[in-house]
Amino acid sequence: MKERRQSGASEAPYGKMAPQQRPPSRPRRRRERNAGGILAGMFMGLRGAIFCAGFSVLSVSLIVWAFFWPHDAAGKIRAISPLPVPKVLDLAQFQGKHKESLFWGTYRPHLYFGIRSRTPKSLLAGLMWLGVKDGRHVLRHVCEDSDNLSQFGWLRHDGSTYGRQKIVDQEIVLSTYFLKSWDQESGYGGDWSVRIKVESASKVITESRDASSIFFYVVNEDGGAVNILGKDSLSKGQVPFATGHDVEYGNWELHLKKKTEAQVNFAGIHTSFMHNLTQLVWRKLEIQGRSTGRLQLSDDSQKLANMAIFQVAFV
Ligand SMILES: *[C@@H]1O[C@H](CO)[C@@H](O)[C@H](O)[C@H]1NC(C)=O
Ligand SMILES: *[C@@H]1O[C@H](CO)[C@@H](O)[C@H](O)[C@H]1NC(C)=O
Repeated sequence: MKERRQSGASEAPYGKMAPQQRPPSRPRRRRERNAGGILAGMFMGLRGAIFCAGFSVLSVSLIVWAFFWPHDAAGKIRAISPLPVPKVLDLAQFQGKHKESLFWGTYRPHLYFGIRSRTPKSLLAGLMWLGVKDGRHVLRHVCEDSDNLSQFGWLRHDGSTYGRQKIVDQEIVLSTYFLKSWDQESGYGGDWSVRIKVESASKVITESRDASSIFFYVVNEDGGAVNILGKDSLSKGQVPFATGHDVEYGNWELHLKKKTEAQVNFAGIHTSFMHNLTQLVWRKLEIQGRSTGRLQLSDDSQKLANMAIFQVAFV
């Protein structure tokens, strides 16, 4: 400490001195010694600074460490063990009626409109419709940013029994309603119904028959059979419907009711893949389109069909 103070005191006069005024030999030696003192002092100061900086970084990282890792009283990291109580979902208030009221729902968030049950393998239901993109028809089904819809999403939803949505796709306005109900004959989870209202702001769309088609499907994720009672097995004027059996819900039926003059076509399809149903249906429509000139379902059913799709075209 003493040395540093000395060198610091002798720094100022030397800096001011002009070179030609410097006295020879002895004072130069003194100056060299003093310069060495200055350097040593600077170096020590720097070392101190480095040490301080290092220490402050260390203390900051220690604080972060302490915040993010659980420590016991001794400061050692310990494993987190679950609280020895039942899971919230296993509590009585989340079972029984509450659980049943949530059995069916609009639980397919990647679709504009889709329904499934709270089981690992479910009967899936969904809505598709024909939209227009770059002057060509496309199937709307999975929410795609490129669909460029000006509006979609729930306007009202109580999370379990009721929901109302408005979808605006260029000139087509679709209102979708979802409602669950229970009566004496209802199975577990009750019954559900869907109402789809289609309005068109422009005549151009309604005049092109293809563009005013909506599709509603049910598909058994489990691969279980889905039968369609088509025109052959129905009396005149009756609308085709789908039936099936499932281990979870027993026998089920899906009926269509149309309010306006509309044509109903259908197809029964076998598929093991649920992630590309849009492509599957589009491929079917394209094949029909090539032979008949219309994007219209073929009114037949494949062997082992686990999907029933209905097309409602407004005429
Ligand atoms: C998307 O729709 C808006 C109007 O809702 C329109 O102005 C815009 O050009 C459309 N974008 C594309 C890529 O079609
Ligand atoms: C659906 O995906 C599966 C597997 O990725 C593929 O084998 C099948 O051909 C696809 N179907 C269609 C219609 O694209």
